[in-house]
Amino acid sequence: MLKNHTCGELRATHIGEEVTLAGWVNLRRDHGGVIFIVLRDREGLTQVVVNSDTAPAAHAVAAQVRSEYVLQVRGTVQARPADQVNADWKTGEIEVEASEIQVLNTSKTPPFYIYKDDANLDESLRLRYRYLDLRRATMQHNMVLRHRVVGFIRRFMDAAGFTEIETPYLFKSTPEGARDYLVPSRVHPGKFYALPQSPQQLKQLLMVAGYEKYYQIARCFRDEDLRGDRQPEFTQLDLEISFVERDDILDLMEELFTQLVAQVTPEKRLLSPFPRLSYAEALAKYGTDKPDLRFGMQLVDLTEKLRASSFRVFSSVAQAGGQIKALVAPGCAKYSRRQTDELIGLAKTAGAKGLVTLAYLPEKVKGAAAKFLSAEELALIAAQTGAAAGDLVCIVADEPEVVASALSTLRLTFRDRLELVDPELLAFAWVLDFPMYDWNEEEERWDAAHHPFTMPRPNTYAEMLADPLAVLSDAYDLVCNGYELASGSIRVHDPKIQTDIFSILGYPTEETQARFGHMLEAFSYGAPPHGGIAPGIDRLVMLLAGVDNIREVIAFPKTSQAADLMADSPSTVSDQQLAELHLRIVEAE
Ligand code: AMO
Repeated sequence: MLKNHTCGELRATHIGEEVTLAGWVNLRRDHGGVIFIVLRDREGLTQVVVNSDTAPAAHAVAAQVRSEYVLQVRGTVQARPADQVNADWKTGEIEVEASEIQVLNTSKTPPFYIYKDDANLDESLRLRYRYLDLRRATMQHNMVLRHRVVGFIRRFMDAAGFTEIETPYLFKSTPEGARDYLVPSRVHPGKFYALPQSPQQLKQLLMVAGYEKYYQIARCFRDEDLRGDRQPEFTQLDLEISFVERDDILDLMEELFTQLVAQVTPEKRLLSPFPRLSYAEALAKYGTDKPDLRFGMQLVDLTEKLRASSFRVFSSVAQAGGQIKALVAPGCAKYSRRQTDELIGLAKTAGAKGLVTLAYLPEKVKGAAAKFLSAEELALIAAQTGAAAGDLVCIVADEPEVVASALSTLRLTFRDRLELVDPELLAFAWVLDFPMYDWNEEEERWDAAHHPFTMPRPNTYAEMLADPLAVLSDAYDLVCNGYELASGSIRVHDPKIQTDIFSILGYPTEETQARFGHMLEAFSYGAPPHGGIAPGIDRLVMLLAGVDNIREVIAFPKTSQAADLMADSPSTVSDQQLAELHLRIVEAE
C-alpha cells in the first residue's frame, strides 16, 4: 500500500512514530517558511506541517500543490502546540511533520469546494461532477451509512433463515402501476424485455418453488413522474415468506427496523410498538395514507355539526354528501393577511375551492367567513376542534378526497413552519386494511390498489365479485415520518381467485394469458399460501440520514428528468446499433 495509516487514525499515542499517509489536499495554508496541508482520505483529516528549514525539498513540493492534488506524505507524528489542538477532529491532538512529499497526481481547480459543507450548492453542478460531490464529507457519511444499513439487513435476514436469491433484470412486465422500461431484443425482432418494476412475480414463483423464505436487495425500474422520494431505478429489500400470516410479517419488520435503528443510528428514537391504523382511520385523522405521526394536529370532522349552518358554503357541501373538516394551528391567530392568503393558495393548489380561516383572538374571531357564522357556531367550532385563544382554525368544505388532500398539505406546512417535530424521532407506523380496488374515473375501470396479486381480507372473497368497492385487501404499508417506506400483502395462491381478480380489473382473457399465464400455471402446481413486503432502501437511508431527498443517499442518481448529467445519459446510439435491434427513430411530432 502507498500508505500505512489513514488520515483518521493518528492519536497522541502515535507521537514519535514515522508514518506514511496518502490522500487529497483538503486545504493548504502557506505561512512562508511553514506550509500547513490538511490531508484528507476516506477516514478523516490530518494536519501536515512542512518546514523549509528541516525539509526543504518537501517544502518546495508543498509550495506547488493545490486543492485536490493527490499526495503521499512521509513524516513523524508530533503533538500539536496546545493552542492548535482541534477537538472537532479525531486527529486533532497531533500533526505530521513531513520529511518527504510526493505528488501522486495533480488536479484541476474543482468547480466547487470539497472541504466546505455548502447546503446551497447547485444540484445540477453536483450531479455533473458527482465524483467530486461524493468526495464531500456529508456524501461520504451518507454512502457509508447506506453500506451499514444494507450490511445490517443482510445479517438480520440471514439470521432469520432467509435465502438471498437473485432474479433477472431482463424480464417481462410486472405491474406495479408505473410504465415499464423496455429493452429491445436483437435476437427476437420486434420483441422486448421489460426491466422489472419489482421482483414481485419472481418472488412468488420462488415460493411455488419451495424456498419458503426469500430475500434480495433488489434493483427496481419504473418509468414514472419523479419526485424527491422517487427515482427511475431504486432499491428494495424484497422478501417473501410461505405459510405466513400478516402479523408474522409485521412483527418481523418491526424487529428488523427496531434493531437496525438501535445499531446503526442509536441517536434516533422510535415509537414502540409501531402504531397500527386502518387506511380509513389514517385518512380520517390525517387526510393521507402515509401520515407523519411525529406530531398531532389531527383533522376534526365538523360535517354533522355544521350541516344546517346558515353559511351556505358549509351547508351546501354537507347536503351534497361532502365533508367539512378542520385543523387547528396553535398560536397562529396572529397570522397576517399575506400569511393566510398563502395558506389559501396552498389549499387551492391541493384542489380545494377555498379555505376558511378563523383566527380565535382573545377579543373576537377574525376571518373572511366569521361574519357568516353565528356566535354559537364559532363557539361550537372552538369546542369541537379544541381551539383556544391565539389559535387559527383552518376549515375545508369539499368532496372527501379534496378535503383530505388540502388539509394534509396544510398539516405538513404547519409542521415545517412551526417546527413541530423532533428531528431524531422516527415515527414508524402500520397502515392496514386498504381497499382492494380503486375506481379509475378516467378509464372507467377498477385498478388494483396494491397490485393484482394481493389477497382480499380473509372471508371477503365472495363479496368481492358482487361489490369490488366493499372489499378490503390483505395489504399493509409501513410508513415513517410522512413517507411510504414499505408495501406488502398476503398473496393470492389460488388460480381461480387470481383469474377472478384479473377479470374484475378488466384484463381480457387473452391478455391475462399472455402476461400472466406462467403465474397461473405455476399456481396450479401446489402453490403454498404466501405473502411478503418490500421496504425501499433509498427512502429508509434517507430517513436515517435525516435528509429529504433520496438523491442524497444514492451514489449516482438521475435528475427529476430521469437524466444522468455526468455521463450524459440517455444518449443517442449509432445507426448500426439501431439496425441490429430492428429499430428506427421516428421524429416526435
Ligand atoms: P411498492 O410498489 O409499494 O410495492 O414499492 C415498495 C417500496 O419501494 C419504494 N419505492 C420507491 N423508492 C424510490 N423510487 C421509486 N420510484 C419507488 N417506488 C417504490 C417505496 C415503496 O414503499 N412488489 C411490491 C411489494 C410487495 O408487495 O412485496 C412493491 O414493489 O419505499
